[in-house]
Amino acid sequence: MQRSHRSWIWIVLALFAVWQLWTIQQPGAPVPPQRQWFQQVTKEYLSTLKRTLLRHLGRGAVEAVKVCSDTAQLLNQHFSQRYGIQIRRVSLRPRNPADTADAFEHRWLQQFEQMKARGVRLDTVTVLQAVAEGADTVYRFLKPIVINTAVCLQCHGPEEDLEPQLLAFLKRKYPNDQARNHQLGDIRGAVSIVWKSDR
Ligand code: HEC
Repeated sequence: MQRSHRSWIWIVLALFAVWQLWTIQQPGAPVPPQRQWFQQVTKEYLSTLKRTLLRHLGRGAVEAVKVCSDTAQLLNQHFSQRYGIQIRRVSLRPRNPADTADAFEHRWLQQFEQMKARGVRLDTVTVLQAVAEGADTVYRFLKPIVINTAVCLQCHGPEEDLEPQLLAFLKRKYPNDQARNHQLGDIRGAVSIVWKSDR
């Protein structure tokens, strides 16, 4: 009796193992990444941006703004390709028109503004939502970007405080720039990631 019990256990375990292997090896099974994965990619993306910015600020804001404006969109492409996603920064008041928020991002950026007005701290807030796109399900992630250091104001602060040469460059390069006249604590925008299972 004991013996047959034990062999049953082995059979069940073996079947379970086979089933596990079979499901793991299903090709192309869409596995949406976890929130933690999006957070990790965002952290790496933002710290790369910040590193580039700080390195060039060493040679003055005018030099840095030129480099930033050339590098930011390239970095979006680079990170998007590396992780098989679409990643970019978006804003309700974009400097680069390419960073204009779409309807989903717009709605959440407004939510972030309302949360801030209610006194919610945004440092740890992230959004992860499955969104139907035709027959597909797309995963969308957002993390607010708050102006939490005066460094940002060198290029996003009150117009009268900007270096004249820098202001001239901004006006030339971004004729529709809406990203000036910010204050410490303002929401500057968000990191936005779109993940699709067919990639
Ligand atoms: C040296 C000037 C400079 C500094 C300092 C600077 N930025 Fe920017 N920022 C820019 C430029 C130029 C762009 C437009 C980049 C582009 O063309 O893609 C930009 C774009 C952005 C965007 C994308 C949305 C948009 O408006 O196009 C965000 C978000 C942003 N900056 C946040 C910050 C934050 C937060 C800080 C402080 C940590 C900061 N920036 C400091 C120059 C600067």
